[in-house]
Amino acid sequence: MAVRQVLKIGNPRLLQVASPVTTFNTPELHGIIQDMFDTMAAQDGAGLAAPQIGIGLRIVIFGLEENPRYPDAETVPMTVLINPQLMALDDVVEEDWEGCLSVPGMRGLVPRFHRIRYGGFDQYGVGFQRDVEGFHARVVQHECDHLDGILYPQRIRDMRMFGYESELPGEEEEAP
Ligand code: NI
Repeated sequence: MAVRQVLKIGNPRLLQVASPVTTFNTPELHGIIQDMFDTMAAQDGAGLAAPQIGIGLRIVIFGLEENPRYPDAETVPMTVLINPQLMALDDVVEEDWEGCLSVPGMRGLVPRFHRIRYGGFDQYGVGFQRDVEGFHARVVQHECDHLDGILYPQRIRDMRMFGYESELPGEEEEAP
């Protein structure tokens, strides 16, 4: 298995809508997911979507346990989420800072639903569903946006709240 190159903003492949996975528990699928975990770990990411390594399938992974990039963030269980479906559980929208391995060195203030229900399948084809809020909900919304060709800068309301991490005033909370 291998650390793969992460495509960066400007690459047209990041703007494509990914296709559903139709066959589970195959060596090919397990290999893709292992490469995604290897790549995420190598970059200390909190999440990664398959299109970010050039694979146009509806697969995201995420999870955060004691990550040096996010010392103050809530922990999120390591999760493989395939063919995800999301719904907001109420109308509450919060803004918080996000980054992305495809937009290196930058941060932006992004509105996301505070509470969501998400569901989908793991790599074995087993379905699951969770109700989550806060940072966990933010990570899932960010990663699933990648499957529809959406990068977080497209969600920023005030582009003054977008810039290089090294230049922005101090912010503690960050997401993928
Ligand atoms: Ni991202």
